[in-house]
Amino acid sequence: MKFLVDQQVQDIEMPENLKLNTFLQEFHSDCPHPQCKFGFYGFAFGQSPFPVPKIVQDSLARNSDKGAYAPVPGIPELRSAISKYNRHYFRMDVDPKRIYVGPGTKELIFNLLEILHGTVILPTPAWLGYLPQIRFLKKNYHMLPTRANKKISPNDLKKLALRLQDRQKILILNNPHNPTGLLYNRLELEEITDVCRDQDITVISDEIYAQTTYDFSKFVSMGKIYPEGTFVTNGLSKSHAAGGYRLGYVIFPQHVSDLKGQFKKILATEYTAVSTPIQHAAISGFEISKEIDQYFEVTRNIHHIMGEYTYHALSAIDGIKATRPEATFYLLADFNSFAPDLQKADILTSQKLSESLIIHPYHTAIVGGDNLVLERTDFSARIAYVDYDGAKVYQNYLDCKPKSNGESAEFVKNNAPKIVDGIKMIGNFFEHLRRESIPYVQAKTE
Ligand SMILES: Cc1ncc(COP(=O)(O)O)c(C=O)c1O
Repeated sequence: MKFLVDQQVQDIEMPENLKLNTFLQEFHSDCPHPQCKFGFYGFAFGQSPFPVPKIVQDSLARNSDKGAYAPVPGIPELRSAISKYNRHYFRMDVDPKRIYVGPGTKELIFNLLEILHGTVILPTPAWLGYLPQIRFLKKNYHMLPTRANKKISPNDLKKLALRLQDRQKILILNNPHNPTGLLYNRLELEEITDVCRDQDITVISDEIYAQTTYDFSKFVSMGKIYPEGTFVTNGLSKSHAAGGYRLGYVIFPQHVSDLKGQFKKILATEYTAVSTPIQHAAISGFEISKEIDQYFEVTRNIHHIMGEYTYHALSAIDGIKATRPEATFYLLADFNSFAPDLQKADILTSQKLSESLIIHPYHTAIVGGDNLVLERTDFSARIAYVDYDGAKVYQNYLDCKPKSNGESAEFVKNNAPKIVDGIKMIGNFFEHLRRESIPYVQAKTE
């Protein structure tokens, strides 16, 4: 039997997780060479490698008997814990009634885009998750390419907003930022806010990486700077390494009333409520405790060590430029200075570059520019530095914290050899490219 698929679905882009899996299945075949038995150097998957905090796991086990449906916006104890969490870590006073819990921030962002009328402004490069949602909902949208510093230019934002006819505009701000690892400071957020106030721009501030900010005192939520116009989203996925729990929350702007009823209606229509045991477990993740505080500190320090190493090692390769991450577990590497050599090797798009790097002898997985909402011909890539055994590395860090730059580099070499070797492999690739001995063309004709 043949089924007809709705055009709306056919028109959307493959979401990032599916795209990556398909890509790896298609292009990374097992290699007969004994030295390639390890699989591949994984700079592509954006997942925290650490175990879910023990107190959250225990709480989930204790609450497995909770079989009843939860209230649509989330159980009151969880909304109250999230409110206290925001006061403690982000210095924000949030009435629990402004908090809605959903199955991950991805779903909540989708729900917000469903209820908010208006044209979406998407700064690029961006996490690929937003675009299929915007297209699926048939919303008007405009890209806002960033300049050399990879941050939103308030001037460019203003110019774009002035051109848009819609009464309402929605800016998707992602801070800290996937894929660059960059962080907006207070002044930058204030300048963006000035434009938003002036031009009536609503902000969805995706702050899922907030807790990974290496110098945590530097993180400022847009919800604090522009409280009347910002929807803040955050959750368990990155801070608590619990993407699989599927739990996120959104904080509504101050003084919103009519919209909440509409939002509740959408949540009730689409998923009723988040799984009740997961909501109970999440309380332990958001409650202020020594265990969770230590977990955040250790994991962000390890991300910082890995990020600094990756930044310096990549930047040391002649021709590669990289953003220096201040949060997350990603950076953006720019390979555009190799464009003439890449073109000579018939590598004309970022997709082809990713393909050339995953095949033998390189076995290196990256996320290319077209998956970051950049031009197909932009040879930039997201490099995630999480390819190591999180549980082991967490313990090793506690046993012996590196105290100097030299010790940090040693720590990476001992604990994350695939990151070290993978970066060398990227270097080899570009060296071979310059020597015109890249095997891509041969591989295609084999
Ligand atoms: C920028 C960004 N926002 C949102 C998400 C999704 O988060 P969640 O697991 O809460 O849906 C991700 C996951 O990769 C992300 O990178």
